[in-house]
Amino acid sequence: MRGKRILLIIGGGIAAYKCLELIRLIRKAGGAVSPVLTRAGSQFVTPLAVAALAGEKVHGDLFDLSDEAAMGHIELSRAADLVVVAPATADLMAKMAGGLAGDLASTLLLATDTAVLIAPAMNLRMWQHAATRRNLATLTADGIAVVGPNEGDMACGEYGPGRMAEPGEIFAAISARLGDAGIRGGRLAGRRVIVTSGPTHEPIDPVRYLANRSSGAQGAAIAAALHALGADVVLVSGPATAPLPVGPQIVAVETAQEMLAAVERALPADGAVFAAAVADWRVAGASDKKIKKGGSGTVPALELVENPDILRWVAQLPPGKRPALVVGFAAETDDLVANATAKRAAKGCDWIMANDVSPETGIMGGPENAVTLITADGAEEWPRASKVEVARRLAARIADVLDAEGVA
Ligand code: C5P
Repeated sequence: MRGKRILLIIGGGIAAYKCLELIRLIRKAGGAVSPVLTRAGSQFVTPLAVAALAGEKVHGDLFDLSDEAAMGHIELSRAADLVVVAPATADLMAKMAGGLAGDLASTLLLATDTAVLIAPAMNLRMWQHAATRRNLATLTADGIAVVGPNEGDMACGEYGPGRMAEPGEIFAAISARLGDAGIRGGRLAGRRVIVTSGPTHEPIDPVRYLANRSSGAQGAAIAAALHALGADVVLVSGPATAPLPVGPQIVAVETAQEMLAAVERALPADGAVFAAAVADWRVAGASDKKIKKGGSGTVPALELVENPDILRWVAQLPPGKRPALVVGFAAETDDLVANATAKRAAKGCDWIMANDVSPETGIMGGPENAVTLITADGAEEWPRASKVEVARRLAARIADVLDAEGVA
């Protein structure tokens, strides 16, 4: 981020307030922000607050003569390393997809030859509307990267997808996007890391499956954080509900067996992080036809067989084939450290990220995580933090090891 300039277009939505924190994160990391506030955006955050945090003039009007004399709007759009639209409202997305240029924000977006990242935010019906779906497909086809939206409570009182991604997630997506533009070096440049994430779905028949409550949020954040440090990341993801990160190579799988095959194909690697909640069992001889309901109250018996343990398989590969650093997760509800320490030994991995998933912690499926890192040296309790922050901390620790070992 150091030395990079982000042109930040703040659209008119309640999520605009999150941009103040985003600006702070970018500047703290050594980046600069050229802020553009749409007329609607200025109803939600004031130009004064944006200017104070960005430390720069806020641009708002296409026909500002002093702006044109100092730096024309074309130049403004080209001087940036990345253009970020947050919140990207339904209206802004429609203007972008249609190539309209009736105000400064849309003109800049049409005039730029720089990569663009959008963080959509809107009411869930607007997000699900056929017009927005169409516009999103057009923007994606145009090469525009998208971060979020997330699912959750919305300011309008409804629940669903449409909440803007959190500032930390947008920051991670910006780092990733700058990386894609070939600008990054990074402590993990030249290192390849495989990450597994999400649940697996194990079919019973063509319409039914066994699953679990993993959202894939922690694995996606880890993949993004590793990518932001310059690693070449392969994210093997089961059917996750959390948004997939921008940057890593994504391999989508459904079952544990498919996940193992994808991990095998992604090897060799310098590091591997197994954050997936892999189903321990699959249904033996899943039916290829829908199982019919028996007439007389009879229920089908499901015979289960054990799935391959992907983490164990990778951790026990022979030297030379085994990644230098293998990290597993242990979701426990009691005796966290003792169980996770035993799991580390049983699996043969280097580190275990142990987390307490008792229902009262709200960790499974929630935005935060409280982790104890188990290594050969013992247990290290990390403070409860957002999954994005936990991912950043883990990625930094991985970089310490892969840097120090000079793994080829
Ligand atoms: O044995 P348990 O499921 O508790 O181990 C959890 C760790 O092992 C996680 O890192 C998970 O991703 C990994 N795992 C796996 N394949 C399995 C089961 C678990 O990679 N079949």
